[in-house]
Amino acid sequence: MSSGARPEATGDARRPVTLPRLAELKQAGEPIVMVTAYDYPSALAVEEAGVDMVLVGDSAAMTVLGYESTVPVGLEEMLMLAKAVRRGLRTPLLIGDMPFGSYETSNEQAVENAQRFVKEAGCDAVKLERGGSSVDRARAIVRAGIPVMGHVGLTPQTATALGGFKAQGRTANRAVEIAEEALALQSVGCFSIVFEAVPAAVTEALMAKVEIPVIGIGAGGATDGQVLVFHDLLGIHQGHTAKFVKRYADVHDAMVEGVRAYAADVRGHGFPGPEHLYSVEPGELAEFRAYLDQESMAGEKWDWSATEI
Ligand code: KIV
Repeated sequence: MSSGARPEATGDARRPVTLPRLAELKQAGEPIVMVTAYDYPSALAVEEAGVDMVLVGDSAAMTVLGYESTVPVGLEEMLMLAKAVRRGLRTPLLIGDMPFGSYETSNEQAVENAQRFVKEAGCDAVKLERGGSSVDRARAIVRAGIPVMGHVGLTPQTATALGGFKAQGRTANRAVEIAEEALALQSVGCFSIVFEAVPAAVTEALMAKVEIPVIGIGAGGATDGQVLVFHDLLGIHQGHTAKFVKRYADVHDAMVEGVRAYAADVRGHGFPGPEHLYSVEPGELAEFRAYLDQESMAGEKWDWSATEI
């Protein structure tokens, strides 16, 4: 059975995925696989699975940090997650997602914070959302030597302004806006763009105009690649998931089952078993017991009531 990974993407012979390699994949019509990761173990898993690009998405706000939306997550939190992913990743291109509020104010702010993703977290590239002023920010970051991925369609950081978490580009006017944003991002040097929650037919029509790799999430099958959130595709995340999510495992259920079995084992004195114990030489143990049996070793309890706090 096929592992789903490209032949050159398995084993020790794997070469790091570069920007020219992504362009090559697009040219060859070979689908590009992107996934999010937020920590060291998820990075090890996606590395071993042989994906092409890894995004430390600000979806981490909801999937791993428990916020209600992606808006509150801060730059320091994103950097900490990106550093952990970097430690587990060797081959895929690593992209740091610039959180809301870390790039909108000025080109200087955008470049400074993009540099932190590269210098401190070891990211290969950054991603930012929207067209409009983000086009200028993307241009500035590209000119500073940092590859940028754009993101159009449903942009969760500004979902309120878009009328909520719903598909974008369902009217001709909105589809035109998305097209203009995508082409503007391409024109300032973005190496790739994410299309999120865009009707498949709109994406298909637009693909002919976009020369850089387009990665879709809820944008149909015409894009050059797909991205899914790690927690959605593995079923770690419970509750509502978007229409475009396909679940490939039920890791949440497996985790609950595992912890329940552990709890039952502890409560039933089934864990630890003899195989989990360290041994000690009988002579050493006897000496230790003699030490404990001394009169002076009568245990004294700390008196909390006499403790000044
Ligand atoms: O934050 C994220 O995970 C994303 C992807 C869904 C593209 O932006």
